[in-house]
Amino acid sequence: MVEIAVIGAGYVGLTCAAGLASLGHNVACADIDADRIAGLQQGRLPIHEPGMAELVQRELRTGRLDFLVGAAEASARAELHFMCLPTPQGPDGAADLTYLLGAVAEIAPVLAPGSVVVNKSTVPVGTAKLVATSIGRDDVAVVSHPEFLREGSALADFLAPDRIVVGGADQDAARRVAKLYAEIGAPVLQTDAESAELIKYASNAFLATKLTFVNEMAEVCEQVGADIDDVMLGMGYDKRIGTAYLQPGPGWGGSCFPKDTEALLHIAASAQVEFDFLRNVIALNGRHLARVAGKVTAMLDGDVRGKRVAAWGLTFKAGTDDLRESPAIAVLRLLAEGGADIVAYDPAVTGPPERLPHVTIATNPLEAALDAECLVVLTEWPELAAVDLDELAAAMRRHRVVDARNLLDRDALVARGFHHAGVGR
Ligand code: UGA
Repeated sequence: MVEIAVIGAGYVGLTCAAGLASLGHNVACADIDADRIAGLQQGRLPIHEPGMAELVQRELRTGRLDFLVGAAEASARAELHFMCLPTPQGPDGAADLTYLLGAVAEIAPVLAPGSVVVNKSTVPVGTAKLVATSIGRDDVAVVSHPEFLREGSALADFLAPDRIVVGGADQDAARRVAKLYAEIGAPVLQTDAESAELIKYASNAFLATKLTFVNEMAEVCEQVGADIDDVMLGMGYDKRIGTAYLQPGPGWGGSCFPKDTEALLHIAASAQVEFDFLRNVIALNGRHLARVAGKVTAMLDGDVRGKRVAAWGLTFKAGTDDLRESPAIAVLRLLAEGGADIVAYDPAVTGPPERLPHVTIATNPLEAALDAECLVVLTEWPELAAVDLDELAAAMRRHRVVDARNLLDRDALVARGFHHAGVGR
């Protein structure tokens, strides 16, 4: 008997499917993309995530995990139905529920009595009720069960979560979902569906706000001659603040924060709440991205036109191949618009990104730096910190570095005659 159907074999769906199987449950994971499913049946993954391929292959061998085409196929055999569909940002900023509601319509007729439909997708407040209405059956419960996975550490986050949130009117259905994680021993919070839906947005918006605060403080540090690392360390010792998530950078990005902050603004506005504070956080993040491009321009005597710029890092953070809403790409687009000639290196990227078609992709960091007049470091890949700085100096035409992640050894660069601009120093 298959206990769980996971609908959607994307990032969240695969993590849930493999993670739940590893906890001993029988899982059928479905997608509409037949090629994707054919690959997964052979243990080939469509995404880059540490440990995931090994876990999927192991769970395929145990027989607890199965991949198939079509949501109804999977749901016809299951009791719990994890909806892991994309909810992209629609034209008005709200999350687009087309994929979720399409899949719900497909599974509704085949759901066994007593089934629980579990919303994993990040969805606006009220979606659990909307899904329940769209299913239109008294014998099926709907709960909201947001995910808090980070790309690059998704499996670790799944198997050792800070908390498990399950929200819904049917307490028994919520308990059945929470019980799946019994052996993990994480704190479980049972709430109403609306609160569970909002916890996800509130968490991402708060984390984005925290980073914007750090980046604002970094600018203050630059102006007053303080060091952001020391300031954050000093703040972090206060247990109410905490040391995590205080690393300055070029600005936040990725597949979640930009769309979720916009969606929360939209949720608030629909409830006649002007969330100006969050609107400002989003705007300030754009300013930080522009500030990095401005530092490169300043290094190149105020004009990047026709000048060779080496870029290290394109993904939105290290440990992923995801380019969606990448701060690196936003910064490089500004430089490309100014006429810079960009050669980029990223260990997870082999061709020019769609949003940056004219960039040249190098096969290693030193090749990207060859003849460059300025190097800009945009993603914190550890291998970039290990590049030999004498070889870097020999490769570059002019010795200028803008390090938007404070990744490289500033003193060692300065000792080799580099002009250096970091963040918050
Ligand atoms: C984020 C949240 O951290 C997860 O909890 C959430 O589940 C997920 O979104 C989601 O909604 O699915 P993720 O997008 O994978 O996870 O990325 P993060 O590691 O949070 O990084 C987001 C951005 O903040 C990146 O651009 C990263 O470089 C930046 N960042 C992060 C910093 O600049 N400094 C830091 O100290 C941490």
